[in-house]
Amino acid sequence: MLKSNRSPSFLEVKNLTLQYKTGGYLLTAIHDISFKVEKSDRLVLLGSSGCGKSTILKAIGGFIKPSHGSITLNGKEVKKPGFDRAVVFQEFDQLLPWKSALENVAFAIQASKKISKKEAEEEAEVFLKKVNLQKFANSYPHELSGGMKQRVAIARCLALKSKVILMDEPFASLDALTRQKMQEELLELWTDTQFTLIFVTHSIDEAITLGTRIVMLSPHPGEVIEEIDVDLSSFDYYPEFAELKERISRILFRDQLDYVI
Ligand SMILES: Nc1ncnc2c1ncn2[C@@H]1O[C@H](COP(=O)(O)OP(=O)(O)O)[C@@H](O)[C@H]1O
Ligand SMILES: [Mg+2]
Repeated sequence: MLKSNRSPSFLEVKNLTLQYKTGGYLLTAIHDISFKVEKSDRLVLLGSSGCGKSTILKAIGGFIKPSHGSITLNGKEVKKPGFDRAVVFQEFDQLLPWKSALENVAFAIQASKKISKKEAEEEAEVFLKKVNLQKFANSYPHELSGGMKQRVAIARCLALKSKVILMDEPFASLDALTRQKMQEELLELWTDTQFTLIFVTHSIDEAITLGTRIVMLSPHPGEVIEEIDVDLSSFDYYPEFAELKERISRILFRDQLDYVI
């Protein structure tokens, strides 16, 4: 789909190539990737394991530098990590175990701006309420379920007023029912707060459920195969969901299918 080039997009990834130095040689993890993200998009990066999804997120997070190409947010080049981009990692153990849910969120707020502990805790309470965890404010991470810990991590991102939330397969290790619930909660949260989401997954179902746009990546080294818009409102009927799922698998496995046919 062609988009007008009049004003720059909110986030732009341009001709991004990333190489890792391993042993004596360079491993190309992703090659010449370009895509644009508009404010309040829910962009999903979809591809098989090892295609470079985490690498792209880490580069947007500012944790690794592009070998070629650029990433710009609001027209400014991303050079290092910042509070404007928050990352929710694959692992659940991203909270400080010796701090309660409330203290985990308050601690991040205090790290991002000059504010008293009491003020930070009051603010943290508001965000814990947004993710429906007000009753667990004083619980410690080991007393919370995986899904609840994930919600604390999201509350922390929202509290930091991050413009972009980057999520790296956050629900991959959950059982199917919890996963579905977390997806629904994430969509509800997005409806309430309209953050910009970049979500990484290898699940076609999850991509269709969560994305307003899906960028499909080829296997290692990752390149963009195709990008499609998703209109969730047209998924009132299962056949439409199944049809899109079929279309996406055909695109993702095009090469293999050509080979088989
Ligand atoms: N720190 C690293 N050093 C060397 N190679 C890496 C490193 N991180 C990832 N890779 C390699 O880069 C490729 C892409 O990895 P990754 O971004 O983790 O893929 P995905 O998240 O899609 O599974 C893989 O071949 C992986 O082995
Ligand atoms: Mg990964």
